[in-house]
Amino acid sequence: MRTIVITGASDGIGAAAAAQLAHEDTRLVLVGRSPAKTRAVAARVGAEHHAVDFERLDEVRDLAAALRGECARIDVLADNAGGMFSGPALTTDGVEKTFQVNHLAPYLLTALLVDRLIGSRAAVVNTASVGARLFGRIDLDDIDSRDRFHPNRAYGNAKLANILFTRGLHARFRSRGLTAVAFHPGMIATNFASDTSSGLRRVYHGALQRFLTPPERGGAVLAHFVTGRPDRDWAPGEFHGAHGRISRTHSQAYDPLMAERHWEQSARMLGLEPAWGLA
Ligand SMILES: NC(=O)c1ccc[n+]([C@@H]2O[C@H](COP(=O)([O-])OP(=O)(O)OC[C@H]3O[C@@H](n4cnc5c(N)ncnc54)[C@H](OP(=O)(O)O)[C@@H]3O)[C@@H](O)[C@H]2O)c1
Repeated sequence: MRTIVITGASDGIGAAAAAQLAHEDTRLVLVGRSPAKTRAVAARVGAEHHAVDFERLDEVRDLAAALRGECARIDVLADNAGGMFSGPALTTDGVEKTFQVNHLAPYLLTALLVDRLIGSRAAVVNTASVGARLFGRIDLDDIDSRDRFHPNRAYGNAKLANILFTRGLHARFRSRGLTAVAFHPGMIATNFASDTSSGLRRVYHGALQRFLTPPERGGAVLAHFVTGRPDRDWAPGEFHGAHGRISRTHSQAYDPLMAERHWEQSARMLGLEPAWGLA
């Protein structure tokens, strides 16, 4: 039996993927923010669930502890929760919200589960975005994009962070059996960008919405990476487009020094050893 953990599973792409992945040979553990929505999706697909707010790192730590207690193995961790938000807004942890919800919280969750993931020869599937290339340009002196805040810039940098994290995981853990991949799901009609001052709100929630792809399609893209085999169906360490093939992303994603420094700075913000993961 494979155990698959999906965050951001209470709505949109994650919920659609969960419905497609529900199978008697699969143990599904769904993570969402809203307890009611998460419970409802889990009941619909016959999954276990946890409600966790990624704006609170103490809740992420509790989630990791609960998963470690409940899951002897984790075959896939789909770090999918995220979105574009208004801001700058500092969380109770003193971090800009877009950066924390999209990057720092899943980075922490993955770090706290890493030995379980290695032991399971797991795949970490990161829902990133073409927004990394369109809107991103990371300044390590403003890693959470709180200065000169713009929702697009903060989102692009956070999704670029997802890709850098994928590359960092690949560099450190591939030789120990853990694989990591990042992908863009497509332009999907979900709850995405419902709480932002970005012009993208009008695209996702106005008249243009009918030109977007339905959530089931986005769910199918996530499900493809969850069920696919590394090296056969996708390339470990790489960013892929919604078509499933490797896709070019922001130039900073290919800068090894940027990947190292971003990894270490993220670790320091979380009180982790900056060199964690080096064998
Ligand atoms: N839709 C697109 O076109 C598109 C394009 C590129 C990338 N993406 C990425 O795809 C992923 C899924 O987004 P979606 O389109 O499915 O949007 P969505 O319908 O808004 O779903 C977002 C999911 O993330 C969860 N989430 C949001 N804030 C959270 C928090 N503070 N703590 C814990 N969970 C939180 C939501 O939980 P609740 O519903 O319970 O609040 C929900 O389950 C995101 O990473 C997004 O950046 C989407």
